[in-house]
Amino acid sequence: MAGPVDKYAVLGNPVAHSKSPRIHTMFASQTEQRLQYNARLVPVDGFDEAINHFFKEEFGGHGLSITVPFKEQAWECAQHRTARAEKAGAVNTLWITNDGVIHGDNTDGLGLVRDLSVNHQVELENKRILILGAGGAVRGVLEPLLEQKPSELVVANRTVSKAEALVELFPEKPVSACGFTDLSGNFDLIINGTSASLQGDLPPLPVEIVAEHTICYDMMYASETTVFNQWGLAHGARQALDGLGMLVEQAAEQFLIWRGVRPDTAPVLLHLREDMS
Ligand code: ATR
Repeated sequence: MAGPVDKYAVLGNPVAHSKSPRIHTMFASQTEQRLQYNARLVPVDGFDEAINHFFKEEFGGHGLSITVPFKEQAWECAQHRTARAEKAGAVNTLWITNDGVIHGDNTDGLGLVRDLSVNHQVELENKRILILGAGGAVRGVLEPLLEQKPSELVVANRTVSKAEALVELFPEKPVSACGFTDLSGNFDLIINGTSASLQGDLPPLPVEIVAEHTICYDMMYASETTVFNQWGLAHGARQALDGLGMLVEQAAEQFLIWRGVRPDTAPVLLHLREDMS
């Protein structure tokens, strides 16, 4: 007889819009893993309690995805963190081992790199890359991006001191910080990691940063082209990609950590696109 079903969830606030339950449920059926995965709304001041409840013996949860605004708190909660989570300063994946230890990882950067290089065959090595923003989302992806050996990575932010603080985490790497109006020359890849698109806003960017070989990537995703991607295409960018693939790829990395099996992301991505159209 089959044993109890392993329990997983995403914790966030808000969380109702989260695509993670659909993604992980599709992964589970594809790989024939017996598990349940649901979304849990956690009060902003109730994160520690939610974690303790989920992982404690009576409930017996196995693993959690963590989303806004709890990734930094999840970093603090994790009793053991991977090196990349340590550097990211945030955790989006938690799981418990048989010895009762809660582990934390951050798969966001790997998700971004896999979406770019595997799904879209975007070359990163020796390329000039610009990333816009210096919040938690950008910090989470800097190390995996730098591991791809770009010739240069520029972090541009409205508040320059925040970009400077991130760059200082990588003293040995070809990474620099500046404000939007200080940008010069064009880039092979421009990644929008600001939350400006959420408000339908756009950072004040000089048009010279886009050339005909430039690829724009918005870490946000939407059924329509995002404001940033519209701007890039209007100024001659070769291609504009949104972050839906990053979302699915970071989830696949979580699934691999939890279940030891890597799901095929392509059919899942296709289903999500269909849902959104
Ligand atoms: P997240 O976790 O999504 O990264 P965050 O840590 O609040 O959220 O960071 C939001 C990022 O978007 C920051 O880089 C912010 O710039 P500041 O550091 O100057 O605040 C950027 N951002 C938000 N709204 C913006 C806007 N309208 N124009 C430009 N940048 C904006």
